[in-house]
Amino acid sequence: MKSGLTTIEMQGITKRFPGVLANDSIDFEARSGEVHALLGENGAGKSTLMNILSGFYRPDEGAIFIEGERALLKSPRDALKLGVGMVHQHFMLVDVQTVAENIELGRATPRFVLKMSETERKIEGLSKEYGLQVHPKAHIWQLSVGEQQRVEILKMLYRGTRILILDEPTAVLAPQEVESLFATLRRMTAEGHTIILITHKLDEVMAIAQRVTVLRKGRVISTVPTSETDQRGLARMMVGREILFRVAKKAVAPGKEVLRAEKLCAMNDKGLDALKEVSFSIRQGEILGIAGVAGNGQRELAEVITGLRHATSGRVCVGDKETTNCSPWRVIKEKVSHIPEDRLGVGLVPNLPISDNVILKGYRDPPLARGPFLNGRSIADFAQNLIATFDIAAPDTNTPVRLLSGGNLQKTILAREISAEPDLLVAMHPTRGLDIGATESVRKMLLERREKGAAVLLISEDLDEIIALSDWIAVLFGGEIMGILDSTKAQIEEIGLMMAGVKPAGEETPAQTPPREGVQ
Ligand SMILES: Nc1ncnc2c1ncn2[C@@H]1O[C@H](COP(=O)(O)OP(=O)(O)O)[C@@H](O)[C@H]1O
Ligand SMILES: [Mg+2]
Repeated sequence: MKSGLTTIEMQGITKRFPGVLANDSIDFEARSGEVHALLGENGAGKSTLMNILSGFYRPDEGAIFIEGERALLKSPRDALKLGVGMVHQHFMLVDVQTVAENIELGRATPRFVLKMSETERKIEGLSKEYGLQVHPKAHIWQLSVGEQQRVEILKMLYRGTRILILDEPTAVLAPQEVESLFATLRRMTAEGHTIILITHKLDEVMAIAQRVTVLRKGRVISTVPTSETDQRGLARMMVGREILFRVAKKAVAPGKEVLRAEKLCAMNDKGLDALKEVSFSIRQGEILGIAGVAGNGQRELAEVITGLRHATSGRVCVGDKETTNCSPWRVIKEKVSHIPEDRLGVGLVPNLPISDNVILKGYRDPPLARGPFLNGRSIADFAQNLIATFDIAAPDTNTPVRLLSGGNLQKTILAREISAEPDLLVAMHPTRGLDIGATESVRKMLLERREKGAAVLLISEDLDEIIALSDWIAVLFGGEIMGILDSTKAQIEEIGLMMAGVKPAGEETPAQTPPREGVQ
């Protein structure tokens, strides 16, 4: 296919969900040989539009043309037949089957005539051609998330996809894996494929896309070549106003030690070693960022520190008290707050109103409690105040939290945890899934706590976030700390290598000594 030809044209696409206009007369066009980014905040309508293009949803209005022909897509199968395939955010692979079986799966050929070895050979060929390394005989459960993503892409290529849609593919990848994905995408576009990349990351758009279409609230704001814009311009289109790029981080002189972890060991839910002699310390006014690909011990670390998981050995001290294996309630008493990973599971009670959720931690103490009773008036005032301060979009304090959107759930947890004025704040993925506006306000709140002298343990997969907020950066890999770096000197490549398990050069043992010197 010649590069530059229009392969996809969507005209006047409208899609309504109950109470939401997800796509509002959208016009969208993509060409062969380009990576076309579809950029927008959460809820802008990106996934909906691409689910329509790949046959998962039917539009209420509008027309789709694929390679010049009007296409009526009744199912993903129809779209695949026309060369359009989509890799979703949540992979659709069968765990217990092999790579080859998954790739064959769902094809029209009856299983008994399948020649696996032939499939496997073909997969190996595609793997080589596009730099998608994965073993055809491996079982899906044995693969990392990055490898599973490669299987999804191979599956699409195997089925003859020429127009490939990727929905936020880098959310689950380490920096090196992102580079390798991008290399694959470049090979595909060089051969005339069309790639549509859904993302809300501006740097990614600038790095890989030739053109970008920005969506806001279900509408197209603009389609521009990336050579004619920059991150700031894109952000303005995406959010509809100027945003601060670098949250201003003030110099704060560190105070006393607030958290000390000494050779902490713990197991994960499967009974395997999840933390291996993890040591570090954080002082007042410091943020220690824990970088790493998910599943390398981050969750277990947060849980051990907050009393939710048993440490098999080692010590945790908060201030001058040892809290190793204390109950969560005891740890809270030491003025420790926790923003958990699972917002609805651990963080909030879905069916209770906002007012009850924000007092979950403080209800035993005055003014919220009056003797053994709760003080309804104070609680309502307290909740109302938090809703205003934290800009939580909700009709009133009686709204059950299950009705709130992701960003507002997160703000509700933050409101509760920060209003407790903790000495130590353990924040796990505090901005994951949030759009730029909400992300900005959450980051500001974390920095405010730091300025007020709190110690913050920030666990995040977003390296930009870690670098922007942290004073020190520790990288977790396989339950071990690969090293602790001064954030003002840390290089993103170095952190990326550590995230992949490479210890920094010139060190035989990981730097597990708590940071002590060199603070600005
Ligand atoms: N299956 C669905 N049912 C109801 N509402 C939906 C569904 N899918 C998406 N929406 C709503 O449509 C809007 C656009 O969502 P989506 O396309 O997922 O946005 P994006 O991918 O840009 O984050 C949001 O308000 C979302 O809540
Ligand atoms: Mg989406």
